[in-house]
Amino acid sequence: MRLLALAILLAAGAASAQTTDGLPAGPGRSDTVRICTGCHDAGVIVHRTQKTAAWADIVQAMVEKGAEASSAEQAAIIAYLQKALPPKGDLAP
Ligand code: HEC
Repeated sequence: MRLLALAILLAAGAASAQTTDGLPAGPGRSDTVRICTGCHDAGVIVHRTQKTAAWADIVQAMVEKGAEASSAEQAAIIAYLQKALPPKGDLAP
């Protein structure tokens, strides 16, 4: 029984380490996670990379919705997202 519990714990730990919410490591990541995953999960952001590099517009829109980020934090987040999640392939919607 104890071994089973340990195995479950290890499996859960491995699963969460693996997902790491899809946001690659990089400067600005911690601000992005802290500020941008309060209302929706990071998957919303990661998914968006397929469509546009217009992160400045998106961050602005989120601030209008209520994201609490100082202008320095917004700049850090935009810089991070542009670098971490560049557009992939063509920009078809
Ligand atoms: C105050 C709540 C809130 C916070 C904080 C927030 N968002 Fe959002 N976000 C939303 C809502 C609500 C939607 C979906 C509704 C919509 O698109 O109008 C959304 C949708 C999105 C989308 C998908 C929009 C699209 O057009 O595909 C992206 C990308 C996104 N958010 C990025 C971010 C980023 C980056 C941050 C950090 C700066 C952030 N969000 C912080 C509320 C928030």
